[in-house]
Amino acid sequence: MPRTSVPRLIVLLAFAVLTQAGAHAREADLDNGEEINEVCAGCHGGFGEGGKQGQYPRLAGQPYRFLVDQLVLFRERKRPNLAMVEYVDDRQMPDPDIQDIAAYLTAIDLPTRLEAVDENAPGFDAFARLQEAKRVLQIPRAEGDIGIGEKLYRRECASCHGRDGRGDSAGGVPLLAGQYTNYLWRQVRKYTDKVRIHDPDAPDDNLLGAFSHDELRDILAYVSTLDD
Ligand code: HEC
Ligand code: HEC
Repeated sequence: MPRTSVPRLIVLLAFAVLTQAGAHAREADLDNGEEINEVCAGCHGGFGEGGKQGQYPRLAGQPYRFLVDQLVLFRERKRPNLAMVEYVDDRQMPDPDIQDIAAYLTAIDLPTRLEAVDENAPGFDAFARLQEAKRVLQIPRAEGDIGIGEKLYRRECASCHGRDGRGDSAGGVPLLAGQYTNYLWRQVRKYTDKVRIHDPDAPDDNLLGAFSHDELRDILAYVSTLDD
C-alpha cells in the first residue's frame, strides 16, 4: 500500500465508525411522547400551550435541546421545580422518555390566530373548530416601551434567543416569543436570585442583573409583540 494513502484510510475508517454510531442513534418514539404528554397536559395543557396565564409555561415549539436540558436539570434537582418533582425522578423519566416527550413537544405548532371560517357552510365541524381554537396562543401585549425594548433585545438577547425570539436548538436556548410574560418575569427573578443559571458556559455571569427593572420591562414588552 503506498504510504500516502494511510491518512486517507484513517479518515475513511473514522468516518465509517462515526456513521455507524449515527445509524445506531435512537429515533424518537412519538407515540410514547404522546402518551407521556397525558401526564404533562394536566398542567401544561394538551397541546403544550401552558396554563393559568403562565403559571405553567408553554412547552410547544420549544427547541428540542432546551426541553431535554431542562428535564435533566429537574431530574438532577439542579433546577428546582416542586410541582414537577414526582414526575421527573429516574424511574419516571429515563433518558429515552425525556427524548420522546421533547421530540413530541418541539413539533407542536401553535397558531397565533384562528382562521376565519363560515360557520353556516355545509360540513362545518363545531367540535374540530373548538379543538383548533384551544391551540391558538397569542401573547397579549405587555406594558413598556417597545421601541427601547427592541433596541435592547436586538443588542443584548438576539444573538442567543434569535432575532425572531424563537430560540436556538443547537445552543439549548428557549423561545421567548410566544411565552407568557409573567412566566418570563418569574424566570428573570430566578436568574438574578441565582436559583437558575442563565448561561451554562459562563455560570457566574449575571446576564440579566445588568439591566434595570424598566429596561427588562421594555425588553419583555417588545418580546410580547414578536408573535403578533
Ligand atoms: C403538577 C404540574 C406539572 C406537571 C404535571 C408537569 N409540569 Fe412541567 N412545569 C410545572 C411548573 C410549575 C413549571 C415552572 C417552574 C418554574 O417556574 O420554574 C414547569 C416547567 C417545565 C419546563 C420548563 C419550561 C421553561 O420554559 O422553563 C419544562 C421543560 C417542563 N415543565 C416539562 C414538563 C413535562 C415534559 C411534563 C410531563 C412529563 C411536565 N412538565 C409535567 C408544572 C408541571
Ligand atoms: C449567551 C446566550 C444568551 C444571551 C445573550 C441571553 N440568553 Fe436568555 N437564555 C439563554 C439560555 C442558554 C437559556 C436557558 C438556560 C437555562 O436555564 O438552562 C436562557 C433562558 C432565558 C429565559 C428563561 C426562559 C424559559 O422559558 O425558561 C429568559 C426569561 C431569558 N433567557 C431572557 C433573556 C433576555 C431578556 C436576554 C437579553 C437581555 C437574554 N436572555 C440573553 C442564553 C442567553
